[in-house]
Amino acid sequence: MTYQVVCQETDLEPGEVEQVTINGMDLAIARDSDGSWHALSDLCTHGNVSLSDGDVEDGGIECWKHGSIFDLRTGKPRQLPAIHPVTVYALKLESGNVLVDTNSPLN
Ligand code: FES
Repeated sequence: MTYQVVCQETDLEPGEVEQVTINGMDLAIARDSDGSWHALSDLCTHGNVSLSDGDVEDGGIECWKHGSIFDLRTGKPRQLPAIHPVTVYALKLESGNVLVDTNSPLN
């Protein structure tokens, strides 16, 4: 596994999400309402829009365009219109840094 720093722990409060670009990939770095951290592909699988412009709450990120909610841990959509999962990546916290491994998708 090759983890790379994508942001700092102080960058996001619970319920917030931001877009980062690493190795040419756009990722949504999300902090759930319970404080847990998650890294997903930033592109909604239903349309070409950025999930990091949506809302994060209760284990999911909601696409702002048509309302599909993707599970932050599995990437699977919980409701239509999206039917395909987004890719989820391993994330860890270390010395105040948020690190993601884009070489080993979790799903
Ligand atoms: S573009 Fe995301 S649900 Fe349609």
